[in-house]
Amino acid sequence: MRFYHQKSFYNPKAQLSRELGVVSFIASESENLFEVFAGGGSRTVMYSIFARPTEMYSNEASRSALCELKANIIINGIKNVKLFNEDIFKLSSVLYLEGKRFDFIDLDPFGSPSPYLPYIFLTVKEGTYIYITSTDMPTLAGKRKAYGFKLYGTYIPYMPFYPEVGLRALLYKLQSVAMEFSYTIDPLFFLYEGYAYRLLIRVGRFKGYPPLGFIYRCPNCGNYGVSKEPKGRCELCGSENESSGNIWIGRLKSQGFLTKMLDIAEELGFEKAKDFIKRALSEEDFPLYCELRSLHLRMMPRVSYVIKKLRERGFKSSRTMFSPTGIKTDAPFEEIMKVLTQSTDPSL
Ligand SMILES: C[S@@+](CC[C@H](N)C(=O)[O-])C[C@H]1O[C@@H](n2cnc3c(N)ncnc32)[C@H](O)[C@@H]1O
Repeated sequence: MRFYHQKSFYNPKAQLSRELGVVSFIASESENLFEVFAGGGSRTVMYSIFARPTEMYSNEASRSALCELKANIIINGIKNVKLFNEDIFKLSSVLYLEGKRFDFIDLDPFGSPSPYLPYIFLTVKEGTYIYITSTDMPTLAGKRKAYGFKLYGTYIPYMPFYPEVGLRALLYKLQSVAMEFSYTIDPLFFLYEGYAYRLLIRVGRFKGYPPLGFIYRCPNCGNYGVSKEPKGRCELCGSENESSGNIWIGRLKSQGFLTKMLDIAEELGFEKAKDFIKRALSEEDFPLYCELRSLHLRMMPRVSYVIKKLRERGFKSSRTMFSPTGIKTDAPFEEIMKVLTQSTDPSL
């Protein structure tokens, strides 16, 4: 694969996310693909060479980026890409009126994907996969409350496990837009890279109440969790809880889909994707992760020690890709604290 770029956006750090796009396209058994924001075409070329969609639409509004996209298609000998040089708001509407619906959509905007979602859903059908990027980290981390309402329609507080709160707020937005079109969403995997989220969802028919609720956290004792109804007071110490607005409280990934992705990454020899998928498969999927650093411990035991002790007590527990000092577990907060305060970790 050869890639030329001068003026168009190109992020060399995003190789893993490009590999995951290819692998998930193949795992989804999709045929056609719509790349909404193609830039200079680094993804277009990757999808065409490795995933080989039977039909591919690539769109880029900037003329200079489009020239580089064209050059990259030519130098890589790619034939079956339909190129568009349109504003996505117009193109989606035209495609909708033409009756065009896609199996797989790649949405890689600058910043938040939210303004584009209602337009993207015009070209969605039941079973469409959407691979979404968001680099709107300050808002999703709870640092810009007004933008949280504007872009995600909910209150996003800053909490110690803010990377997971942000992902769940993004999923809430996706579910809200999906419902307006009588769809629902199913998250298949996520990648949190500090500066960006990557997320794959599958669109399904709307059927009843989706997994939406609230995240709460006690600022006094640190107890936290999710609930269907807002929880005003901490059940452990009685202090007033901090709470998010409406948010996604369902699962974040599919083990079955990730297992399929692992086989494909191995076949393609995509080492970065392979390592990532193995780590994703080993992570428990309980809301929310516990950020050990936030608990003001006098001595911090090793994460592996805490996981081992929780498992010995009969709880599920694993590392989390959200934070190197976080754990995922089904243990109640008191049990985590017991393990931490009774720690005899020899590494202390
Ligand atoms: C993050 S870059 C895409 C990078 C590309 N996916 C890659 O992997 O190299 C976002 C692109 O969206 C384009 N863009 C921004 N607003 C747009 C709009 N309303 N319609 C179409 N393209 C737009 C920008 O010109 C930019 O090239």
